[in-house]
Amino acid sequence: MTTKQNHSSYNAKFFKKWAPVYDYMAILIAKLRRKAAERVIGANKRILDTACGTGAQAIAFAKRGYSVTGIDLSEDMLSRAEKKVKKEYDVSFSKGDATEIHHPDGYFDVSSISFGLHDMPEEIGILVLKEMMRATKSEGQIIIVDYHKPKNRIIARIVRNIVKLWESRYYDDFMQIGLDHYLDKVGLKTKHKETYFLGNAQIVECLNAK
Ligand SMILES: C[S@@+](CC[C@H](N)C(=O)[O-])C[C@H]1O[C@@H](n2cnc3c(N)ncnc32)[C@H](O)[C@@H]1O
Repeated sequence: MTTKQNHSSYNAKFFKKWAPVYDYMAILIAKLRRKAAERVIGANKRILDTACGTGAQAIAFAKRGYSVTGIDLSEDMLSRAEKKVKKEYDVSFSKGDATEIHHPDGYFDVSSISFGLHDMPEEIGILVLKEMMRATKSEGQIIIVDYHKPKNRIIARIVRNIVKLWESRYYDDFMQIGLDHYLDKVGLKTKHKETYFLGNAQIVECLNAK
């Protein structure tokens, strides 16, 4: 089995189990949806939300009047996202692998991935970021939201041990590797970074310099 096949089958099982309760758990990070959406500069933007899950981040963008495309590997997560769509939102959700985005180069003004990278192997995460860069216009924004390792080692250890109780098998590696390493590997430069919840989460905005 390839890394992609292995990930895809693990992901389907993992999120089948979590989809029914995901939105209740994600209440804790509700504030980050709005904060990430506020990073988008300008009006009339076409936004891609990769690994959109149950759609909370995509809908936060749509509420601000943007046209949003959400893609995700898990049908169970997507079916929850579909239920949240209101006719006033310009948002669509579809099943898709973020390592193979079916849109032309530079199609989107902005692309985002929220709490997605820690749920995939590093190799896949790198491919996803590269695909987001390809599908986003030059000088467009790439917005990444995910866990962050706090400077305080005691807080870092306590939070890690708690979060590990529910997170996927990739979480620990992601925390060891750190987002900066992913950005270096794909050549993305951080334009703006904010941390939240005592340094345990981050919103990073990059410019898609091609
Ligand atoms: C923790 S959820 C995050 C969902 C949502 N973005 C949020 O902020 O709540 C991680 C999501 O990543 C998706 N995912 C993992 N690998 C993926 C891939 N290669 N392509 C698309 N989605 C993927 C999973 O199916 C899951 O819905």
